Amino acid sequence: MTLATVWFRSPDFVNALYIVAFTLFIIGLRGLTGPNTAVRGNKIAAVGMVIAVVATLLLGERQVHGETLPAIISGWSDVWLIVLGLVIGTAIGIPSAIKVKMTAVPQMVALFNGVGGGAVALISWSEYRHALESGGNPELQILIPTLFAAIIGSVSFWGSNIAFGKLQEILPGRPIQLPGQQFINLALLIISVGCAVLIATGRESEGLFIGILVSAALLGNLVVLPIGGADMPVVISLLNAFTGLSAAAAGIALQNTVLIVAGMIVGASGTILTNLMAVAMNRSVPSIIAGGFGGGTIATGGGDDDTEGKSVRSTSAQDVAIQLAFARLVVIVPGYGMAVAQAQHAVKELTRVLEGKGVEVRFGIHPVAGRMPGHMNVLLAEADVPYDQLKEMDDINPEFPRTDVVLVIGANDVTNPAAKDSPESPIYGMPILEVSNAGAVVVLKRSMGAGFAGIDNPLFYDEKTSLLFGDAKESVGEITAEVQSL
Ligand code: TAP
Repeated sequence: MTLATVWFRSPDFVNALYIVAFTLFIIGLRGLTGPNTAVRGNKIAAVGMVIAVVATLLLGERQVHGETLPAIISGWSDVWLIVLGLVIGTAIGIPSAIKVKMTAVPQMVALFNGVGGGAVALISWSEYRHALESGGNPELQILIPTLFAAIIGSVSFWGSNIAFGKLQEILPGRPIQLPGQQFINLALLIISVGCAVLIATGRESEGLFIGILVSAALLGNLVVLPIGGADMPVVISLLNAFTGLSAAAAGIALQNTVLIVAGMIVGASGTILTNLMAVAMNRSVPSIIAGGFGGGTIATGGGDDDTEGKSVRSTSAQDVAIQLAFARLVVIVPGYGMAVAQAQHAVKELTRVLEGKGVEVRFGIHPVAGRMPGHMNVLLAEADVPYDQLKEMDDINPEFPRTDVVLVIGANDVTNPAAKDSPESPIYGMPILEVSNAGAVVVLKRSMGAGFAGIDNPLFYDEKTSLLFGDAKESVGEITAEVQSL
């Protein structure tokens, strides 16, 4: 080996590359805090990941805690295996990321996250086998993180697969509960932790290790099955945090700094995101895990006590156009229906035409509008709506009393006054966009179908509200044409 090759494969050089990679991860994550910088942030973090992978493959033979660890690549057979893995991963990853629809991103994240957890569980198994073959249980400082990574990685892989199945509608979205579910879950947890304790206290057994993987796999399935489809994005974010923690534990076991740092970043950001989503939906993480909410049942208008016998006022594109064109301030409130209809470009065009008529237009963005964090921001940024026109809930709510017309485009739950007024409502306590404080409200939706929470919305029966029924993209297009003809 030449001196240069030895230097490239030395831990010092690889660690220097790792520091560059961490820095890029953190700069990339910072970029993800705003839609204008998010794409660049993603690219920067991706470059960091390429550097981290190349640096890891470079690693040569090294001494860790007095033990000689082999080089990552020690022959051509390793090279070919890695190339094969890269080719398969690229062939699956790139086309699916290009083809996936924006509304299907949550289930794609679930799949990718699950693969990460599964990889961690398999690495732990392979490391444990390797340790047994070369003389028995490793030292506790290696063994404990290996066992932790096996449990959490396996729960995360199987739980993420169930989350994917529910969001993709391969499995029913409603909660699926077995009799005595909580006890079964507790028993599975005790079995997997019990096997880990036996190994950590001196038993050398691959059978026990497989017992950990299997019981944690069953636990992952049974914990996620009783959770309704409505809570799935929060569950995916939580499992993502778990995958990060298990990767960090695997990093400790493998003495690999980049795995520790990347795992901790994923674990910490996933935990923060889970908490933010739960707070914005007024749900606690333990109540989400307990399951039973958000079965996706669709309520029909006038179906409950509060709205029995009440009627809604339907309107036409022409009337809406007149209301909007003669307003001073219009606030557009987009929701999941705008994403389904892919109406964001039509909405941008309507904004342009209204502004041409001297109307001030703003957007009111609820933190959980749509089906994933930042869903509305991403769609509107894609349609080049200027970021400073997008107002967060706390900033736009005080503006509604001076707003002439609110145009609600495919949003439902995030405007539902029952969250403020009806203690018995399942969404009671969720902060909402208080659109009924405006002079008039126009709602674009296809029918009286309910939103994600599956409940009726008293806003639709308010005397200030009128509904324009139809697909959001078509309705917005018709309104724009009418405004232009005024
Ligand atoms: P939803 O309450 O789900 O309401 C969407 C509305 O869009 C429906 O009432 C539907 O009525 C209408 N719609 C669907 N397709 C349409 C189309 N092509 N054209 C016009 N309208 C259409 O949406 P939201 O107000 O955005 O609330 C989001 C919900 O998801 C909240 O309950 C939130 O807690 C939950 N959630 C969000 C997240 C994140 S992170 N965003 C995560 C988990 C859960 P019609 O069928 O009558 O058209």
